[in-house]
This record gives sequence, C-alpha cells and structure tokens, in this order.
Amino acid sequence: MGFGDSLEQASALVVGAGRGIGLGFVRHWLADPRFDQVYATYRDLSRAGELLALAQGHTKLKLLPLDVTDEATVADAIAHLQSQTPRLHLAVYAVGLLHDSQLQPEKSLLQIQPENLLRYFQVNAAGSILLARYLLPVLKHHQPSVYGVISAKVGSIGDNHLGGWYGYRASKAALNMLIKTAALEYGRKSPQTILALLHPGTTDTSLSLPFQRGVPRDKLFPVTRTVAQLMAVIDGLNPEDSGSFLNWDGQPLPW
Ligand SMILES: NC(=O)c1ccc[n+]([C@@H]2O[C@H](COP(=O)([O-])OP(=O)(O)OC[C@H]3O[C@@H](n4cnc5c(N)ncnc54)[C@H](OP(=O)(O)O)[C@@H]3O)[C@@H](O)[C@H]2O)c1
Repeated sequence: MGFGDSLEQASALVVGAGRGIGLGFVRHWLADPRFDQVYATYRDLSRAGELLALAQGHTKLKLLPLDVTDEATVADAIAHLQSQTPRLHLAVYAVGLLHDSQLQPEKSLLQIQPENLLRYFQVNAAGSILLARYLLPVLKHHQPSVYGVISAKVGSIGDNHLGGWYGYRASKAALNMLIKTAALEYGRKSPQTILALLHPGTTDTSLSLPFQRGVPRDKLFPVTRTVAQLMAVIDGLNPEDSGSFLNWDGQPLPW
C-alpha cells in the first residue's frame, strides 16, 4: 500500500517539463489513466517543441510558462493552476542545471566563481523551495498528495568520495536541506502531503550528455526507465517517508 493506491481522477504538475526527465513524466502521466489532468511548465516555448506537440494531441495536458528564477512566473503559474484545479495530487520538481553555454561544473578550486555558485543555488535549490511555498494551498486537501523533488546522489555529503562539481553538489545538498525542512513544516500544516527527494540515477538527457563517457551502458538509464522507476518509488510512498532522500530503487541515501 502507498500513495499510488489512492490515485483516481488525479491531477499532477511537473515543473521543468520542456525536456529530459520532466518531459518523461508528462508522457508517463498522459498514458496513466489515474491522471485526469496534467500540468506541465516550460521556460521557453520555442525550445519546448515536443511538449507543445504533446499538448496539441492531449486535451488533459495544460502548459504553463514558468522560470524558477522569476518569482512572478511561479506565482502566476500556480494561481492559474489553482483557478482550474483546487486540488493537486502530485507535483514533481524536475528543474536542474549542471552546465550551459556559460557554466561548466568545476573540476578544481581554481575554477570557483561565486556568481556560478549562486546560479546553481538559484536554479537547483531556491526554485524548489519557492515551489514548496506556492504549492502548499493546492497540495493541502483531504486526499494524500506528494511533492517529489528530483535531487542527485552527488548532493550527498556522506557519499562524497570523488570531489569536484562544487556548485552542483552544494546546490543539491542545499536542496536536500530545504526540502527536508519544508517536510517538517508541511507535516504540521498539511499532514496528508509527503515531500520526497529522489535520485533518478544517471539518465540519458542533455544534462548528463557531456559526462556519459565511462558510464557503463547498464548504468545509463533511458528517460522512460528512470520515470517508471521514480513513479514506482512515488507510488509506494507513505506519510512516514516525508522528508526522506531516496535512490531510484526506493532505498534511502545518506545525507
Ligand atoms: N540526467 C541525469 O543523469 C541526472 C542525474 C542526477 C540528477 N538529475 C537531476 O534530474 C533533474 C532533471 O534533469 P534532466 O537530466 O532532465 O536535465 P535536462 O534535460 O537538462 O532538463 C533540465 C530541465 O530544467 C529546466 N530548467 C533549467 N533552468 C530552469 C529555470 N530557471 N526555470 C525553469 N526550468 C528550468 C530546463 O528547462 P529549459 O529546457 O527551458 O532549459 C529543463 O526542462 C535535475 O534536477 C537534475 O539535476 C539528473
């Protein structure tokens, strides 16, 4: 028994659905009859062609613009969602930043740049807790609900044996602390809501692409497999799991 058994005519939201694992959740939920309404956020429609095509073919999918670094877009998106769906059953934070045209993960102390550390923190950590704040009224109702936040095992301080990737690691460790703390507050304000931090495993997306060399083939998951595994973990969640940091196979990870 777990959260998934309660799902019926449910509504779900994925934040960061333009590509990668977030887009995978959208596809998965569109094929899952337990979900009646699927909300998905994108940052720039011109770069979210696959999501747009899905929305054109599925009336249960609604798209919302949202950039986690712009609080007004978060407020507007959730207000819009709330006007259509007073009760949200599942929200997934699939936003993440590891590299882009201006940013590469640091291999050495010599590459530390404070403004890059702040960018990692803003996207990977601050965005998720802003969502926790705005989602509380829609996740709080008489049915069980889940806020699943995609973290990363490299954010584990106890498991850090390799070093490097200062900003990404630290932002994921911060993400873990923020969501763990929010789980305690939700426990008081909305005890039916479970917050969980989820490590997806190395997944074949643009985020991991430059670092896939050396990853054994059976350790590099296609997005469909990652999403199916994470949904199995989410489906099995119970209230006592709130605030936990879980691997893709459901096993707890060290903080
Ligand atoms: N792939 C892996 O091997 C792996 C391993 C461990 C953990 N993770 C975690 O899994 C999550 C999903 O990663 P992924 O592999 O799917 O990466 P991805 O393919 O690079 O997707 C990242 C997503 O985050 C969105 N995003 C970035 N900045 C944003 C912002 N300011 N506001 C709103 N959305 C923003 C992107 O939107 P745009 O398209 O607009 O840029 C995109 O939808 C991340 O938290 C990542 O850290 C991934």
